[in-house]
Parts: sequence; structure tokens; C-alpha cells
Amino acid sequence: MKTIVLGAGGMLGTDLVPFWNSRTETVPLTHRECDISSRSSVAGVFTREKPELVLLLAAATDVDRCQIDHRYAYSTNSAGAEIVAQAVELSGAAMVYISSIAVFNGEKNSPYDEYDIPSPLNTYGLSKFHGEQAIRTFCHRHWIVRTGWLFGGGARDMKFVARILRKVSLDHEIKVVRDCVGSPTYTGDLAEGIFNLTQNFQYGTYHMVNGGVPASRYELARETVSIAGHSPNIIQPCLSSDFNLPAPRPRMEAAHSMKLILGDNPVTLPDWKHSLKGYINNTLGELLS
Ligand SMILES: NC(=O)c1ccc[n+]([C@@H]2O[C@H](COP(=O)([O-])OP(=O)(O)OC[C@H]3O[C@@H](n4cnc5c(N)ncnc54)[C@H](OP(=O)(O)O)[C@@H]3O)[C@@H](O)[C@H]2O)c1
Repeated sequence: MKTIVLGAGGMLGTDLVPFWNSRTETVPLTHRECDISSRSSVAGVFTREKPELVLLLAAATDVDRCQIDHRYAYSTNSAGAEIVAQAVELSGAAMVYISSIAVFNGEKNSPYDEYDIPSPLNTYGLSKFHGEQAIRTFCHRHWIVRTGWLFGGGARDMKFVARILRKVSLDHEIKVVRDCVGSPTYTGDLAEGIFNLTQNFQYGTYHMVNGGVPASRYELARETVSIAGHSPNIIQPCLSSDFNLPAPRPRMEAAHSMKLILGDNPVTLPDWKHSLKGYINNTLGELLS
């Protein structure tokens, strides 16, 4: 099944493209190669590639910038999703839209499942929710995959886990927020999970995160430095209110799936601690001292 990956240059794309490419013909397209907020850019790609499946990973993911620059947030996460959904429908292909647990307001006291009702707290979450709605409105053949706090990509990525490992050799103490809880999820596992989803499940909306007990960023950071052979005590807890960030963060961003465990071929992702260990040892070796 010929697959195009939009937003292939990001963290998820870095791990998803090789996995997908080893199973089916895959065309990765970076932001420079296809801008999803441009109808002509998207139309050109569909005319040239004639995909059967489209993986829409492209997103404006800087949550604080989304809060102050609405054009940045909505042009990609909402309008871009709409443009892609219309192109997919017209072409007869199917698509996967990667969404976020940030579509919920975080007031629940337990992980969100697919039957909870979205009510985003910040502009990033709202723009992703509008993206979901555009997919549902304009494209019949879709899977929407809401996922959690991603880790993965290469050692040069400056995302949370790699950033903590870089700081650990420079700082004596690193303050990390402990009052928000999420589901850490490895992009390599997510790539495999999405593949299995498209093989075995009907179209619809699914939550897909690694297993294991949900964690705060503080706990994720402590686990990260412990795996790297440092004392976890270098990580000290703080509150989100200690940082004056533009975007409010949901207190609860953990998720679980009520739907992926149903059926003949359930999709379950490994415990996040197991995957974090594999990722750090296999991919971030150059950051370990
Ligand atoms: N990271 C997380 O913790 C997390 C959690 C839940 C859901 N998600 C979702 O998972 C997906 C992948 O996230 P990620 O962490 O891999 O994000 P990422 O590293 O920020 O990658 C996103 C990619 O999209 C590209 N992009 C931005 N605007 C675009 C546009 N208009 N047209 C085409 N490409 C564009 C970016 O390119 P440039 O950098 O060149 O602009 C970047 O390569 C996103 O949909 C995100 O919303 C992420």
C-alpha cells in the first residue's frame, strides 16, 4: 500500500518512516517538501504520488507559541488538516491523523479513554481538536490516533528526554514539574501500533499510548537519569506555576484505550519504562557518560 508521510522530518517521523518503509512503499515528505497549509502544495503531492494511505504527522507542536500565535497553531493543526482531509477524500485514499490527549481539559482524576468528551484547555489542544473535526467532516476513511507525551527521535533531537540527559552533565540540580501527569510514549512503539491499527481495526478514533503507570514529568526525568546511571536526586520537583508559561497545561494528560484491546488482534504497547530504557541505551548512547 503506497503511503505518504506528511511531517516526516519531526520526532515521530524519524522513527516511523524506517519502520513503515520496511513493510510497504513509503514516501516521506518534510515541511519543505509539502506544506499542508498550502492547498496547491498538497494537491501537487497527491497528483504526483497517488497515495493509497496518508499519515498526517505534521503539526505545530510548540504549545506556548500556539497560545500567543494563533495563525501558527490553526494554519497547520486545523486548516492544514482540513486541506489534507479533502485531498484524501477526493483521491479515494485513507488517512491517519495523529492527535493528542491535549484535547481534554485535564480535570479528570484518571486517564482519559475514547468515550470522554474533549474540552481543550489551551490553543494547541483546541487547534488539534478542530483538526480532528475536519478529518471527521471531510474524510470518510480515517483513523484518528490520540497519543501522549512522546519520546524518541535521534540524539540530536532537543525533546524532553534528550534535553534532560544533556543538562545532567552541566547542572547540579534540574527542576522538573510534578503536578501534571501523562502517558510517556515511545515513537518506535507508536509507529508499530499505528501500523497494526491500520491492518486490523476499523476506521475511527483511538487512544494509543505505552502501558505502565502514568507519570509526571518529574518521574519521567528521574527514570531517565537513573537509566543513564546518574542519581535520580539530581532531579528536583517543582510546580507548573513556578514557570510563567503562556499556555496552561492540563493536570491530567494520561490516557488508555478502551477500543484497542477489543477484537481478534488487540494493539497494546509495552510499559513505557521498558521502552525508555531501550531508547536511551540504543539511540542516545552518545549522551551517556
Ligand atoms: N510530541 C508529543 O509529545 C506529542 C504528543 C501527542 C501528540 N503529538 C502529535 O504527534 C504528531 C507528531 O509530533 P512530533 O512530536 O513528531 O512533532 P515535531 O517533532 O514537532 O514534528 C512535526 C513536524 O511537522 C512539520 N510541520 C509543521 N508545520 C507543517 C506544515 N504546515 N506542513 C508540513 N509540515 C509541517 C514540522 O516541520 P518544521 O519543524 O520544519 O516546521 C515537523 O517536522 C503531531 O501531530 C503532534 O501533534 C505529539
